[in-house]
Amino acid sequence: MDKLRITGGRPLQGTVRISGAKNAALPVMAATLLAPGVHRLRNVPRLRDTRTFARVLELLGAKVEFEGNLLTIDTQGVNSVEAPYELVKTMRASIYVLGPLLARFGEARVSLPGGCAWGPRPVNLHLTGLQAMGAALEIEHGYIVGRGVKLKGATIGFDVVSVGATAQLMMAAVLAEGTTVLENVALEPDITVLGEVLVACGARIDGLGSRRLSIQGVRSLRPIDTAIIPDRIEAATFAAAAAMTGGKIRLEGVAPDHFEAPLRKLEEAGCTLLREAGAVTVSGPGRPRAVNVVTQPFPGFPTDMQAQMIAVCALADGTSVIEDTIYVDRFTHVPELARMGARIELKGNVAVVKGVERLSGAQVMATDLRASASLVLAALAAEGESLIDRIYHLDRGYETLETKFAALGARIERVS
Ligand code: UD1
Repeated sequence: MDKLRITGGRPLQGTVRISGAKNAALPVMAATLLAPGVHRLRNVPRLRDTRTFARVLELLGAKVEFEGNLLTIDTQGVNSVEAPYELVKTMRASIYVLGPLLARFGEARVSLPGGCAWGPRPVNLHLTGLQAMGAALEIEHGYIVGRGVKLKGATIGFDVVSVGATAQLMMAAVLAEGTTVLENVALEPDITVLGEVLVACGARIDGLGSRRLSIQGVRSLRPIDTAIIPDRIEAATFAAAAAMTGGKIRLEGVAPDHFEAPLRKLEEAGCTLLREAGAVTVSGPGRPRAVNVVTQPFPGFPTDMQAQMIAVCALADGTSVIEDTIYVDRFTHVPELARMGARIELKGNVAVVKGVERLSGAQVMATDLRASASLVLAALAAEGESLIDRIYHLDRGYETLETKFAALGARIERVS
């Protein structure tokens, strides 16, 4: 199993080009099922998760080809409606195929994802929303099964803001009969952009960018031709690396307004920012200041940056309080950071971080994607050598991470 060996303590300097966003690419890949034909997705990150999703589409009968970061998906020959447990259990986002399959074929057999490293992560909003649109869904042998479904417009109000359920129901509604109104939808850029992509293919969606969407079903859509937006979480992770190492990193190919909340927190922690169109330069302070963070749906501070922000605060001057309101169990990085000398007390979904002057390199284990990123950040700033095990989690969501950090002056290598 691959590991990362990192010798920390160097300020990171230079320019990094940010990849396409995994969480924007996955729903767009699912949306290709809505229209038979050849779809072209540019700037798709080459990651384990995008490959897994490509495999799901292939099993459904699509032809998928990756050339560099161009992904071509031919959905003309889709002839199956089953997403098997073996793939869904490795990547929950596979459930995105459910809405499009029901919308186009009136049938689907999609494995229920089950739990994950940070809690049960239910899909009840996906299911009740589709049921409200007329889909009679059964759970059979661990699978969500729909047969003879004819989706109809409905008014659906979400009691929790959910990225996944918003995307799922948007995709179901664009081909449903009549008008669907979705209330309290997610505003994450990945979702707004999915809506824009669907509109470019002929969908009729009003209210994009607001909490209320009105979607009038159409008979058919044209194939997708789009470029995936830059990954705001990858960008914010590199910004955090500048903050922790006292470095200066220019993030290129980014949309700064997609990660304003983390940028503002890093500013509060003492970073200096230079924002330009499509780029941000982050200069880290000698030592970051403590900051308090509460995760919220977009435009609030993203839960996907909570672990990395704890790493920054571990080295800060003062005590930081970090609360995750979205995923209350998402703290598996805390005991690993403690092995590097961090002083963090966990009280339920609140981490109280007493900043230390130095972290020291250690052998640690990655437990999920963003937790792994926080360990990499801590190792880059720590004194001495760290060995990070189970980095396959990182390969799910960061494209060529070690190459990008090495180009910024980090001593980092992948070892088997
Ligand atoms: C997506 C992101 C993930 C990110 C998360 C929150 C993808 C592929 N993944 O996950 O990286 O951490 O948004 O920004 O884009 N909930 C329910 N019932 C449901 C669905 C969700 O109660 O049916 C709850 C969840 O438990 C959670 C909250 O809603 O507390 C937000 O979850 P959601 O936005 O749906 O997360 P995902 O789409 O799974």
